[in-house]
Amino acid sequence: METSLAEAKRTCYCGEIRKSDMGKEVVLKGWVHSRRDHGSILFIDLRDRTGLCQVELDPKNIAGEYFAQAQELRNEYVIAVSGKVVERPRGMVNRKLATGEVEVKASQFEILNTSDTLPFRLDEYANVGEEVRLRYRYLDLRRTEMQNIIATRSRLFQIIRNFLCDDGFIEVDTPILTKSTPEGARDFLVPSRLNEGMFYALPQSPQLFKQILMVAGYEKYFQIARCFRDEDFRANRQPEFTQIDIEMSFVTPDDIFSPVERLMRRIFGELNDVRVDIPLRRIPYAEAMLKYGTDKPDLRFGIEIQDVTDVFRSGCEFKVFNEAMEDGGVIRAMCVADAAKWISNTQLKPGGTLPNVVARAGAKGLAWFKMEGEPAVPDSTIGKFFAPETLSALAKALGAAAGDLILLVADKPKIAAVAMGQLRLWLGHELSLIKPEALEFAWIVDFPLFEYNETEKRWDAAHHPFTSPVPEDIPLIETDPGKVRARSYDLCLNGEELGSGSIRIHRSDIQQKVFRALGIGDEEAEHRFGFLLEALTYGAPPHGGIALGLDRIMMLLMKCDSIRDVIPFPKTQTGLCLMTGAPSDVTELQLREAHIKLRHEPRKH
Ligand code: AMO
Ligand code: AMP
Repeated sequence: METSLAEAKRTCYCGEIRKSDMGKEVVLKGWVHSRRDHGSILFIDLRDRTGLCQVELDPKNIAGEYFAQAQELRNEYVIAVSGKVVERPRGMVNRKLATGEVEVKASQFEILNTSDTLPFRLDEYANVGEEVRLRYRYLDLRRTEMQNIIATRSRLFQIIRNFLCDDGFIEVDTPILTKSTPEGARDFLVPSRLNEGMFYALPQSPQLFKQILMVAGYEKYFQIARCFRDEDFRANRQPEFTQIDIEMSFVTPDDIFSPVERLMRRIFGELNDVRVDIPLRRIPYAEAMLKYGTDKPDLRFGIEIQDVTDVFRSGCEFKVFNEAMEDGGVIRAMCVADAAKWISNTQLKPGGTLPNVVARAGAKGLAWFKMEGEPAVPDSTIGKFFAPETLSALAKALGAAAGDLILLVADKPKIAAVAMGQLRLWLGHELSLIKPEALEFAWIVDFPLFEYNETEKRWDAAHHPFTSPVPEDIPLIETDPGKVRARSYDLCLNGEELGSGSIRIHRSDIQQKVFRALGIGDEEAEHRFGFLLEALTYGAPPHGGIALGLDRIMMLLMKCDSIRDVIPFPKTQTGLCLMTGAPSDVTELQLREAHIKLRHEPRKH
């Protein structure tokens, strides 16, 4: 009697069979990817993690009762096959498949499981909505593209671990059930059954633990850490995400940049086969805000924003500009080479596409000139409000030439910067100025320590409350918080913030000073961060670190548009796991044990 194929060990993977295997008897296991019925002979593409291989089921080679079963095969049935590797007849070779020169002539096969008809075809998923993909994530993950992403993610984990361990870092895991770590989002809370009315918070990052590890003398720490933030989702944010978390003692920012740059070079070299030249460029925060209108500039294209306020100090009758300047505002401009012919006056009119882009950032309008005439001068419907000398000074300041388009926004510095930054990005995409293959890294440095929160009328930490001020600026914490410079830095790539870090405060007295400036009173500080303040009094070394968003690195590596595409089981924009149905209601008993009483009936999604 023939042995059961279900029990037989597989001898090789589908995607690995080559011409050199010809004549071998193999046992394969996998999924029916597709099936073609050629009258009496059946061909199937059998799929496993490694790829596809063609299997021929011919009644000449397979006993009758088995062949009858073969007729029942449908896509995604799970089968075991044994047979011989043979060369495909000439003319039947499939160059698109790695295994395209061979096929397996089955002598035996067995159905290990059947499959219902899939809600979407694995090879025609382009029109499948994301909801369906997330609902049936296990099917979505069967697709070659997703398998490639998940396999790359696995390699990324290995590269990070190998690189950092070889560089002398030690991997330490920190708790998930912990106390609140402020990173600017809400905490996810977990009720304690054993301590009535008390809650753990899931960590927004391992920030405080990694600082404590420096106090504990570990010197070079890393962790591939899961972080949890209950925030309103924007693109590229997930409530649960993964950081490459790093902390080092006795360091300057350069000592942190070095391993991070080398790690980036290794990651992008190994997984994308591109060379990252290091050291990476550094751009002061103020310069990034001015030239690109953002602290995460997309440097894959060259348009730069300039401040041209001084050009309009005289010779300008344009009310909008004069009022903005009187109000303490600025005039920011950019010159888009050769764009006069690509952007129509209709697109530039109030209510047109371009003014709408700046309006979304809060700007009141967009002024423009096209470089026209012989010799070319700035020309526009608003040209009459400006002296010719003012216009030529504008063209000169921007280096504008015939055919160029000049765009201007007059507003408060922050609004003007952000609006122009948004418009710059829009133009980059719209005019296809972005080189898709380019990798443009930059460190953004010299951030302010505090940011004024207009809505709450208070100072917030620009990075987080544990960031060290530049030592000479410490006296300003109490007198002029807006002027205090931070020892913090961000790493950005192609317009995304990849990571963020700082040199930390290692003295309890300065930490308390910063807490006070942030409106965290001594009592509250003691309650929330007493353990840190205390730890800092027991010989805390100077230290600093960084955290890099692993999911964002994956997204850029795989050239995906969303981090949801590179996370095995992501949540939707509203925080749902469509596959499991989380979050879900719980039983009355569970609530009682957690000492929790609901204010309202659960609102089911
Ligand atoms: P920060 O809050 O800037 O810094 O986070 C560091 C990096 O983590 C990634 N990231 C996210 N990725 C996906 N979804 C999210 N919701 C999300 N939030 C952040 C970003 C970001 O640059 N403790 C500090 C680091 C430090 O100072 O060492 C921190 O967590 O890529
Ligand atoms: P208005 O006076 O509102 O008709 O605007 C005249 C032109 O100036 C229009 O093209 C507006 O889009 C532009 N404009 C209005 N406000 C601003 C502003 N704050 N900055 C730049 N251009 C503006």
